[in-house]
Amino acid sequence: MEKFIITAALPYANGPLHIGHIAGAYLPADIFVRYQKLNQNDVIFICGSDEHGAAITLRAKKEQKTPKEIIDFYHKKNEESFKYLSIDFSIYHRTSSKLHHETAQDFFKTLHSKNVFNKQKSNQFFDEENNQFLADRYITGICPKCNFQEAYGDQCESCGSALSPTELINPKSKLSGKKPIIKETSHWFLPMEKNEKWLKEWIENGTLDGVPKHDPKKWKNNVLGQCKSWIDGGLQSRAMTRDLDWGVKVPLDNELGKVLYVWLDAPIGYISATKKWAEKENKNWENYWKNPETKLINFIGKDNIVFHCIIFPIILKEHGDYILPKNVPANEFLNLEGRKISTSRNHAIWINDYITDFPGKEDVLRYVLCAISPENKDSDFTWKDFQARNNNELVAIFGNFVNRVIVLTNKYWNGLVPKKHKITDSDEIILKKISQYPDKIGNSINTYKFRDALFDLIDLARLGNKYLAENEPWKLIKINPTRTETILHISLQIVYSLSILSQPFLPKTSKKISKLLNTNLSDWLSATKTNNLKSNHQIGTAQHLFEIISDEKINEQTEKLK
Ligand code: 2FM
Ligand code: ZN
Repeated sequence: MEKFIITAALPYANGPLHIGHIAGAYLPADIFVRYQKLNQNDVIFICGSDEHGAAITLRAKKEQKTPKEIIDFYHKKNEESFKYLSIDFSIYHRTSSKLHHETAQDFFKTLHSKNVFNKQKSNQFFDEENNQFLADRYITGICPKCNFQEAYGDQCESCGSALSPTELINPKSKLSGKKPIIKETSHWFLPMEKNEKWLKEWIENGTLDGVPKHDPKKWKNNVLGQCKSWIDGGLQSRAMTRDLDWGVKVPLDNELGKVLYVWLDAPIGYISATKKWAEKENKNWENYWKNPETKLINFIGKDNIVFHCIIFPIILKEHGDYILPKNVPANEFLNLEGRKISTSRNHAIWINDYITDFPGKEDVLRYVLCAISPENKDSDFTWKDFQARNNNELVAIFGNFVNRVIVLTNKYWNGLVPKKHKITDSDEIILKKISQYPDKIGNSINTYKFRDALFDLIDLARLGNKYLAENEPWKLIKINPTRTETILHISLQIVYSLSILSQPFLPKTSKKISKLLNTNLSDWLSATKTNNLKSNHQIGTAQHLFEIISDEKINEQTEKLK
């Protein structure tokens, strides 16, 4: 049995979730988790709301509410969205909790007592109109490296370069739109440059002092590429604190008005959430986070790569005792109808809206978002493609196959699984193929190729359809009932395999199929067998798994986006 901590980036509780969030980190993480659980591995799936940061105070200001009102509202809303999409965390915690504040402060204190930080005076941008120091993300300007007009103070999203706000040409405050002034402040800096050597070895060779820790060949190219360009560009000291009054307070006397920056706050949230989970489940959290056998996998979007591959590992290693990430399978970005998703311009599909507009179609969204997942490069969601994948793949291939098999079994054998008689060479080939799918799909999931895995799942249903079309049991029944029994028997085994293998991707559908078959969800390996349904086992009556989505419904959605 393997042991996993699987985390998904804590989303800010300052707004609702959209499809870009789900495709970026949460859906792949959930698929991975479900697969590991079906393989009887010991898995905890950690997430929660990130309830700190300037974005939350800004939103509160704008809506004339308190930050607490904002986070309470969105924490609940986002938790509901995840539940609706069957994204099934072991815990969905909150960084505003006392336990989290204490945990993050302890981390700071340990690093501080080990003299890891340097206290440095620095000049920072200050918005005079709002009387506030500006977080890096609240300053935009022209990228000095590629001339992109809307680069952020910490990173250019166009060329991926790491920046510091003072490098931006023509900086502007996102709060007031005005040019910020420079003001002196002091902060606690993490000297990342001191860690360059081991980080390079760890990321590029997967070893620490020569001891193997992970296999860099299993890391995604987009992730390795960003890390290498950061390291090759030379690491610099970075401030781990900020001047703000909302967040985890710096736990030192005389440091009023300073809070821990997201780097020393949100990822520690994975640890505090695990503590909370362990408390409830009567488990030992250290047995996960401080156990070299545990595989820590951080699912994130591409804007958090450097954060999780460089900064978080430095923090964990400087602290000592903790394991480092085994892999950070970050996705790229999902666009919408050819344009970047934009929350401010409301160019997005919000999960809450989808829930209202497409009730009962949770798995359809999971299916489409997995099929177009931005695994190696940015990808595009379009409503036309959503419709086509639903109608041509889920309805026409997957649903149709399952339905035909259940209908025929009920029609000719009163819902009793027919016997398997003498099999032919072509049956033999089919049976062999069925037994190979679990490994094929599993290997893809284990290497973070969720699209390939999903395509293989559909391929199995396609194989079933082809088998039915070639043998035409609805005609054969009149000529050769014995042979028909065998064909249906084998087809039913395919449906059974689909009930298991679809579970990571389409959990609600998987459950429905189990109900149709009158079986219980078993483990992944059971799908390698082709005798799971015994003859004379009573199945249920047919019920459609998916339905056609009309042009009208799709046009409504495209109109809405305009
Ligand atoms: O970028 C973000 O969305 C932040 N809330 C941090 C997410 S990563 C983490 F949780 F460490
Ligand atoms: Zn740039």
